[in-house]
Amino acid sequence: MEEALVGQDGLTWIECDIARDDAHLVMSTALTRIGLPIDVVVNGAGMAGKATHLSDTRSDELLALFKLHVIGAMVVSRAALPHMSRDRTPAIINISSRLGSMAATARHDFKSLEMSYAYRITKAALNMLTLAMGEDSELAGIKTLAVHPGEFASRLARRNSRAPSEFASLLADFIERREDVQADVFHSLNGHVLAW
Ligand SMILES: NC(=O)c1ccc[n+]([C@@H]2O[C@H](COP(=O)([O-])OP(=O)(O)OC[C@H]3O[C@@H](n4cnc5c(N)ncnc54)[C@H](OP(=O)(O)O)[C@@H]3O)[C@@H](O)[C@H]2O)c1
Repeated sequence: MEEALVGQDGLTWIECDIARDDAHLVMSTALTRIGLPIDVVVNGAGMAGKATHLSDTRSDELLALFKLHVIGAMVVSRAALPHMSRDRTPAIINISSRLGSMAATARHDFKSLEMSYAYRITKAALNMLTLAMGEDSELAGIKTLAVHPGEFASRLARRNSRAPSEFASLLADFIERREDVQADVFHSLNGHVLAW
């Protein structure tokens, strides 16, 4: 296992490809070495899909995005679980996308966008993971929240114009307010609730 802990300027972070088969071992070993209680887990790792038609959608793209968006979030949450504090409103926040909304897709809200199959399918699956974790007795006392961050400029979404710093401050505010935030709904960081 490679060295995963990096520390600088009072921060410690874990370098880990969460889609790797040994990601759980890397994460849980590093978190045990850090040995601090965790209040909030944000599962934000994401990747865009390419294929927007059935004929060019390949299983390897679908599996890669499933491994990252769904299994990756599971692996990180599972590794964090033994370290999560139970007395400071612990939360697991899964960064989803409005494109994962089945209700909005059924309304054809995104039809003109021609978005990737793999991205939409795996974000919908991440929403189901979030709801399933919310019913898990092992996670009692931990809020599990699905969040659409809004559109902001990033490697994944280069055409968007909003600065990522806007997203960062909205997310920080959401985390601060987590005690009052309702579970079992699909949040948008702009304050709206989205249909699942
Ligand atoms: N930007 C938007 O408008 C928008 C809209 C809706 C939802 N989202 C969601 O917001 C989240 C953040 O996306 P972003 O727009 O900020 O995209 P981004 O700039 O491409 O960032 C993606 C992040 O995921 C990390 N990542 C990717 N694969 C990973 C892996 N195998 N293991 C560990 N980390 C991995 C990347 O780490 P490295 O930097 O080390 O590669 C990077 O930090 C995603 O879940 C995305 O689906 C974004």
